[in-house]
Amino acid sequence: MSLPFFLLFFISPCFSSFIAPITKHYHQTPPFYTLQLYLQTPLQPTHLLLHLNAPFTAIDCTRNYNSTNSRPVPCNSSLCRSLQSNNLNTSSSCINIPTTIWNNKVPNTCVLLPHNSFALIDSLGLHTTNGYNLGRVNLFPEFILTCSNEASKLLHGSSNKEITGLAGLGFSKYSLPAQVSTTSSVFAICLSGSPSAPGIAFFNFEKPYYFLPGIDASEHLNYTPIITSELANTNSLEEYAYFVGVKSININEKPITLTNKTFVTRISTIDPYTVLERSIFTALIETFTNESIEMKLEPIDKPVKPFSVCYEADEVAETYLGPNVPKIEVVMENDVIWSVFGKNSMVRIIEEEGLDVWCLGIVDGGVGSSSSIVIGGNQLEDNLLQFDLGTKRLGFSSSLMQHKTMCANFNFSTINMF
Ligand SMILES: *[C@@H]1O[C@H](CO)[C@@H](O)[C@H](O)[C@H]1NC(C)=O
Ligand SMILES: *[C@@H]1O[C@H](CO)[C@@H](O)[C@H](O)[C@H]1NC(C)=O
Ligand SMILES: *[C@@H]1O[C@H](CO)[C@@H](O)[C@H](O)[C@H]1NC(C)=O
Ligand SMILES: *[C@@H]1O[C@H](CO)[C@@H](O)[C@H](O)[C@H]1NC(C)=O
Ligand SMILES: *[C@@H]1O[C@H](CO)[C@@H](O)[C@H](O)[C@H]1NC(C)=O
Ligand SMILES: *[C@@H]1O[C@H](CO)[C@@H](O)[C@H](O)[C@H]1NC(C)=O
Repeated sequence: MSLPFFLLFFISPCFSSFIAPITKHYHQTPPFYTLQLYLQTPLQPTHLLLHLNAPFTAIDCTRNYNSTNSRPVPCNSSLCRSLQSNNLNTSSSCINIPTTIWNNKVPNTCVLLPHNSFALIDSLGLHTTNGYNLGRVNLFPEFILTCSNEASKLLHGSSNKEITGLAGLGFSKYSLPAQVSTTSSVFAICLSGSPSAPGIAFFNFEKPYYFLPGIDASEHLNYTPIITSELANTNSLEEYAYFVGVKSININEKPITLTNKTFVTRISTIDPYTVLERSIFTALIETFTNESIEMKLEPIDKPVKPFSVCYEADEVAETYLGPNVPKIEVVMENDVIWSVFGKNSMVRIIEEEGLDVWCLGIVDGGVGSSSSIVIGGNQLEDNLLQFDLGTKRLGFSSSLMQHKTMCANFNFSTINMF
């Protein structure tokens, strides 16, 4: 974790496109994703919990944080006022933080909700890219983050001691993509479904995103409008989230029975599986089960929690798009379709007592959950998602496996030309 970092860095005039690997932590329950970048002075390789709904990047600066260049944001500064006004639920308070990170108490530090944390400035480093390979590390010397233990709270703890911060990619002026974007309002993520190789995030450019064997995934996007939290009318915890409107869900081309309205749908990298409000969940499970029976798949009597429909693995044929189960189509409000094949809808569960099943990786969100649909990590893997904060639209590729590539196929070979 604390490898010294000896490379030279400089700001390249030509390449202001940046990337960061995204690692899936498979062996954790539930699994989660981290973004790998460099923080502190001198720069240290750091894994931050990938959080699409968080407004700020947060680091627990009480743990292994020893940066020669970090400094607090003074309370009575225009930056502090701007940071605070970025919070809809704001605090204008300033406090004396009893912190050890600057060797003494810091008077009048800028305090931020929602994490009730304070703001600091430090260095961040990201690799440049030409869309094909990895370049040098570009230094952002004035990166604004907050000091909080939010990541540990989200990870509930003990087994993830090395993850002491989160990367906030939310809809906020001070999110990580917003701060590193100078020429474009676009960033993209591609979560890897492969245990052996990472996925990738792209910042400050909209194309090309090359994956071996030479597929530009930016050419395979469909677009749907992003709805902001005020319009989505959700609670304050989801203030910085990205929402889209879903009109209907089809299973093997058959629409499931839903009330006639648009469902507020949030994209989440924190939820490992897709979560559906009870009425949608019930309708989807019924249609999916019926359709699977038509495909000669018989659900087992005792599904593995938290899932509701599972099949014996040796009953299910496998294809390059994953287990051969009914295809799910999510129809967006503008009628574009997000296709979900077995690799993204199903979860393999193998246990010691000989249990080996595929379960539908969708869970029941209960009655009246604040977002009708939360699209979680399992459904996002090997799909490219592109967020354009300027035009407020989401680009999604559906499974890149359809184009014979995947998120783990970025060529991370380093070229020092840029
Ligand atoms: C912090 O870093 C400085 C300079 O790199 C070093 O001298 C010091 O021992 C470090 N302190 C801790 C607590 O690691
Ligand atoms: C805060 O800043 C304003 C304008 O910059 C100044 O007039 C005021 O005296 C400052 N207040 C404190 C407590 O420093
Ligand atoms: C604002 O945040 C505080 C502390 O997190 C919370 O208790 C309060 O309910 C929030 N207010 C609104 C209007 O969301
Ligand atoms: C759904 O609502 C729209 C407008 O409110 C209406 O035109 C349409 O016929 C409705 N569809 C169904 C299946 O009820
Ligand atoms: C599913 O199948 C059952 C049993 O054949 C049938 O009663 C039910 O109406 C079907 N549901 C849907 C949504 O097709
Ligand atoms: C990855 O990129 C490097 C540098 O451009 C190139 O030499 C190498 O052949 C590429 N790897 C593959 C598998 O194409």
